[in-house]
Amino acid sequence: MAGDKAGKVAKMTAGKMTEMTGFSGRRVVLGVTGGIAAYKAAELCRLLVKAGAEVRVVMTAAATQFITPLTLQTLSGRKVAQSLFDLTEESEIGHIRLADEADLLLVAPATADFIARLAAGMADDLLTTVALATRAPILLAPAMNVNMWENPVTQENLARLLGRQGPAPVLTVGPDAGPLACGWIGAGRLIEPAEILEAAARLLEPGELHGRSVVVTAGPTFEPIDDVRFVGNRSSGKMGFAIAAAAAARGASVTLIAGPVSLPTPARVASRINVESAAEMGRALEAAAVAADVVVMAAAVADFRPAARAAGKLSRRLTPSETTLILTANPDLLARLGHGRRGPRPLLVGFAAEAAGGTALAERARAKLAEKRCDVVVANDISEAGIGFGAEDNAVTVVFADGSAAAFSRASKTVIAERLWTLLAPRLGPSSAEPLIKKTQPAASAARAARKKNA
Ligand code: CTP
Repeated sequence: MAGDKAGKVAKMTAGKMTEMTGFSGRRVVLGVTGGIAAYKAAELCRLLVKAGAEVRVVMTAAATQFITPLTLQTLSGRKVAQSLFDLTEESEIGHIRLADEADLLLVAPATADFIARLAAGMADDLLTTVALATRAPILLAPAMNVNMWENPVTQENLARLLGRQGPAPVLTVGPDAGPLACGWIGAGRLIEPAEILEAAARLLEPGELHGRSVVVTAGPTFEPIDDVRFVGNRSSGKMGFAIAAAAAARGASVTLIAGPVSLPTPARVASRINVESAAEMGRALEAAAVAADVVVMAAAVADFRPAARAAGKLSRRLTPSETTLILTANPDLLARLGHGRRGPRPLLVGFAAEAAGGTALAERARAKLAEKRCDVVVANDISEAGIGFGAEDNAVTVVFADGSAAAFSRASKTVIAERLWTLLAPRLGPSSAEPLIKKTQPAASAARAARKKNA
């Protein structure tokens, strides 16, 4: 990555040292809420400052029970804001100015309570008030007990925030899965500060996928038996939606072709095409793939459809021979793209759902890769409980046409999606689109410049 020397920071990602730019002179409001992971905010604050960001820490009252404001004040080099009604604080830097001047509001850790208050549009303390008033992107790094994380209320609150359209898109990074401070094992761990920093950098600078056109298919397909019944599968669409969200957050122009799921369109996704059947998905895909740099086939396309679609609603009083369902094979959409492709674009990424693990999983993935003539296959073991189909988490083996492979252990689908793009982005060839724009001047920076000029 090219850029000025100031604000570069060395970071470890997947064992590789890379450099990060984009933070220099940018104002990051670091919100810290009250969970045991709050101690990790100290490391995150240090990394942000080292990367060149101007960090303003805002703590909730509960956060101060876990980490002292003095720690974060020392690391950020600025007074920590805590109260909406503190006269001195308010005169030094008012809460609206904090919100206006932020280039990014990063909340780490974001507790279930904070997410709930944010989703409800509450402004009952300084941090929620800043979050409600800002026009900057809001990046949440959730951390909580696994049951709190999996509670439908928390998931609904998040879905509401992530699906919100408007000037301040809400995005998430993590949580990670593993042993939790509360003794449980599962999703809810604050993702490592280095990964939070990486996600924040992607929001501040047009990402590495800027100028790329990405098509993602997601969810199941429903194949009609009659006007009310269908043959389908249990795909939730979560993996594909997470892949679309992560690509959009990295600056790609994303077309999401979604089967019948009730998930909200992720922030920054350029267009969503809702389809029902494999035939409809195929038509949408062929049209979108023409101009695509990458096609990710995360959809669980039904392999079979009823040979004929009955009109109306079939009666249960049919004879046994009339109730026999005759199935016919659907076309393999991915193979059709792979076999019809002339040249290296689009990069074709397939998925493979296999009831196998370890080397057998990788072998079957390689067989599908060759058979469908794609470049990458992301395989998961559907016989393992808690991952893949319908689940929140996934664990995948990624095989490439050049023979290389990578494995991601169990993590939330959003984390797997991030790691997947980190792996794929450097493998993309030159884009046909305009050259990468290195730095934009976001609204907050422009407003700040104008204010300084007038002062
Ligand atoms: N796929 C497709 N069209 C189909 C079936 C599958 O494009 N009719 C794509 C999926 O989107 C996925 C990949 O092919 O990216 C592999 O899907 P999977 O269900 O694992 O394998 P199948 O090819 O269906 O083979 P099998 O069911 O025998 O494992």
